[in-house]
Amino acid sequence: MKWFRPSPSLAALVALKASLSAAFYLPGVAPTDYNEGDRVALNVNRLTPAIVPSTQQVESLISYDYYHEFFHFCRPKKGPEKISESLGSILFGDRILTSPFELSMAKNETCKFLCTSTHDKNSAKFTNLRIWQGYNLNWLIDGLPAATLTSQVGDESNQFYSQGFSLGGITPNPGDHKPFINNHYDIIVDYHRIPGRKEKPFRVVGVVVQPSSKQQKISGDGKSADCGNDTPLYLSESDNTDIHYTYSVIWMESPTAWATRWDKYLHVFDPRIHWFSLVNSAIIVIFLTGMVSMVLLKTLRKDIARYNQLDLNEDVQEDSGWKLVHGDVFRPPKNPMLLSIFLGSGAQIFFMTGITIMFALLGFLSPSGRGSLATAMIILYTLLGFVGGYTSARVYKSFGGESWKKNILFTPIFIPGVVFGTFFFLNFFLIWKGSSGAVPLWTMVALICIWFVISLPLSFTGSWFGFRAQPFDAPVRTNQIPRQIPEQALYLKPIPSMLLVGILPFGAIFVELYFIMSSIWFHRVYYMFGFLFVCYGIMIITCSTVTILMIYFLLCSENYHWHWRAFFISGASAFYVVLNAFIYWLSKLSLGGLASNVLYLGYSLLIGFLFFILTGTIGFFSTWFFVRKIYASIKID
Ligand SMILES: *[C@@H]1O[C@H](CO)[C@@H](O)[C@H](O)[C@H]1NC(C)=O
Repeated sequence: MKWFRPSPSLAALVALKASLSAAFYLPGVAPTDYNEGDRVALNVNRLTPAIVPSTQQVESLISYDYYHEFFHFCRPKKGPEKISESLGSILFGDRILTSPFELSMAKNETCKFLCTSTHDKNSAKFTNLRIWQGYNLNWLIDGLPAATLTSQVGDESNQFYSQGFSLGGITPNPGDHKPFINNHYDIIVDYHRIPGRKEKPFRVVGVVVQPSSKQQKISGDGKSADCGNDTPLYLSESDNTDIHYTYSVIWMESPTAWATRWDKYLHVFDPRIHWFSLVNSAIIVIFLTGMVSMVLLKTLRKDIARYNQLDLNEDVQEDSGWKLVHGDVFRPPKNPMLLSIFLGSGAQIFFMTGITIMFALLGFLSPSGRGSLATAMIILYTLLGFVGGYTSARVYKSFGGESWKKNILFTPIFIPGVVFGTFFFLNFFLIWKGSSGAVPLWTMVALICIWFVISLPLSFTGSWFGFRAQPFDAPVRTNQIPRQIPEQALYLKPIPSMLLVGILPFGAIFVELYFIMSSIWFHRVYYMFGFLFVCYGIMIITCSTVTILMIYFLLCSENYHWHWRAFFISGASAFYVVLNAFIYWLSKLSLGGLASNVLYLGYSLLIGFLFFILTGTIGFFSTWFFVRKIYASIKID
């Protein structure tokens, strides 16, 4: 049951290796040791929308800076300072800043007064709306996100952490729903004492914050507070409201070791259902592809034997089927430039995804290294520019393409251009809404620099090698005059064949897709890389076999335009991915405002497009391999 997560023994191994030398730690995953009374930093991250409890839906996708002018949270005396983050972390919207909270290791505090701030009418309107939309505060203590303790309905004993805690709440009285703001925080920190250690024996292993709304009394000198009054505090939208912020800190000793402190965050909802549905789909898919390949192999062997027989007997030309198109099947496709550019980028995405999942599976991209997954993907995509250039050039040369300069230039520009373009466009919506999710200009500049300085030259080098390499020659000669293509059966027509083939690879990843989507949009930690790895494998197998089968039928009906067809029917699974995102949009999200909707649909389309390139490439290359094999095995003239 555990294998889908990095196994404990593996984690222990990594931890052991790491403990040999602190210098070996990956950034962000080294433990910090404390003495009693040492200051433990509490940093604040952006505010994120969460599931609204009353409707069980997400109503916004815009995140806001903690120190957004309308929230009026208490600031540190010197002003908030930025905490440095990885590129991936910034791209995925983390904005981490210092805070005025003072926590000392293993020192309980009760009702400590932080500051008083004043909400004017406009701020109150803004903040109340965010409370209605169920916004969460996200704090980090020793790199660990402050969580809410939750349990599943019907299974209250099994508690786990969900990241973040609420900005406010709604009074439950029927007929009198009013938003109140949480201004008191009970911060419960679990700490672990390393047995037998004298110097700095303490580590932080768990953080839960229970926020509440109170109308505290502040003493005359403004230094202490009385948190006894539990009347909720409402923000008036017609007058100024003073808010006193207070907090208590409770340190609880815990047996949890530092190495396993993330486990409580990585709760798998209904693991059994998840597990069974995956096994189910895997069995169906494997069974299906197994059948497909067996049938195909049998028929093919018969076909080949028969064709070769016919030739020997110098029989009359009564053969039909795929052999008839041997003089046309290796005719270069229309628009070979675009196809080879797609294939180059597809290969790049293919390896990037595979290697990232591998790294994650081995536990190198732990959730404690914030954004490490995204960073790894960016770095890998950049370095794999070489593979992209090489593939594109070699394929283009095999298609007999002549404009090699154009090919070299456009391969690294086309797909990244589309991605950057969409990204820039969507970023404008975030800037317009004053969201913290907007990627800062310098990050954009850094990305473009990385691309120009590393990716572009690598791709050019790859192209150079690709053009120097031997092209894939056709095993049979191509006729001068193209054959007539007879009328095709309905299921072999472009759209029906796409819809038929595309649904199978989608079926293989459907379950994981759901979890990935909820981790992207609901800010849950995604950690089931074992499942993802299996799914990726199944998806590759399905894409290849089903595409090969369909192209075999296509060739049998004497249609030799298989290049683009193979790419499109396999890539059609992206259509289902986008459709799925659309259904998710209708059922799970009720986004208010133009910006959130544009963002959601924009990113879904972008992901769909990249998925199209990826699956199309898988389908094309396996079909190409298959077609070359079968035509090389028959005797012609
Ligand atoms: C802090 O308070 C809690 C609850 O009162 C108690 O269980 C815990 O032991 C205290 N921690 C320390 C370090 O005194």
